[in-house]
Amino acid sequence: MIDKRTRIKIAIQKSGRLTAHSLELLEQCGLKYTRDRDQLIGYGENMPVDLLFVRDDDIPGLVRDDVCDLGIAGLNIVEEKRLEFLADGIEQPYTQVYALDFGHCRLSFGYPEDGPVQAIEQLPGKRIATSYPWIVRDYLASRDLQADVVEFSGAVEIAPSLGRSDVICDLVSTGTTMKANRIREGETILESECVLIKTPVDIPPEKLDWVDRLLQRIEGVMQVRESKYIMMHAPKDALADIAALLPGAESPTVLPLEGVDDKVAVHVVCRENIFWETLEALKAVGASSVLVVPIEKMLA
Ligand code: PRP
Ligand code: ZN
Repeated sequence: MIDKRTRIKIAIQKSGRLTAHSLELLEQCGLKYTRDRDQLIGYGENMPVDLLFVRDDDIPGLVRDDVCDLGIAGLNIVEEKRLEFLADGIEQPYTQVYALDFGHCRLSFGYPEDGPVQAIEQLPGKRIATSYPWIVRDYLASRDLQADVVEFSGAVEIAPSLGRSDVICDLVSTGTTMKANRIREGETILESECVLIKTPVDIPPEKLDWVDRLLQRIEGVMQVRESKYIMMHAPKDALADIAALLPGAESPTVLPLEGVDDKVAVHVVCRENIFWETLEALKAVGASSVLVVPIEKMLA
């Protein structure tokens, strides 16, 4: 069974858009796990980590109650629940450790194409259907707008045609759903991506070492996603120009080239992606034999 005292519990989405990416992130951190028969718990084999596969709406509450030490969920859910907890007087239900740079989407108003409302200024007195009542109410209050919020737990885009609302406020990723329902996307009120949240309770000493290691590895995984290792030959007097062209580069390694006096080999780690334009610019200042290599692991 689950050992609460020594094993780290991480809540992740059971099935949905974030599941595959969340698991991939943990696997890149080195986690190997087996899943139980009903698939709701994954047991780490090489780390004291257990995965709890739950509905994403439940993740913030599980972390806030310290049932799970960590949770991976969309900022949309994390923020919605944070506002709900805040209304109950709970100010720090969890801490957000990292924005994970996947699962990007946005929470936007949607106006039925032939409906009476086409901009936020026209919202007063109208009905807004949403699964994010706390975020929407918070937004309305910040803009001093008064409108009715009608709560739907899913399939929000059907609300206007059912006569339940005048507009909607829902997540948009590709925009296909709104378009298919003849709804025009309006103002965005929240830019969302997947985030890692942590319990408000101090991690017990038995688990602290592994939590720290896991967080460091997650940071490493995020860094290597964009990072590249670049090698090139360069004229000695072009080194300053080259450094200026490489985004987020750390101090380069400069090596002599056998039998060549005016050129050196330059090796450098770049913390950002390298585009063709940069390679062309490097060539223009005299670099040759430029190689850009992906980095597999990195530990700061
Ligand atoms: C979300 C959202 C929209 C859709 C938007 O729903 O509520 O319906 O995705 O994506 P698109 O812009 O790429 O079309 P989800 O699939 O998460 O299910 P739900 O509506 O039941 O929450
Ligand atoms: Zn939906």
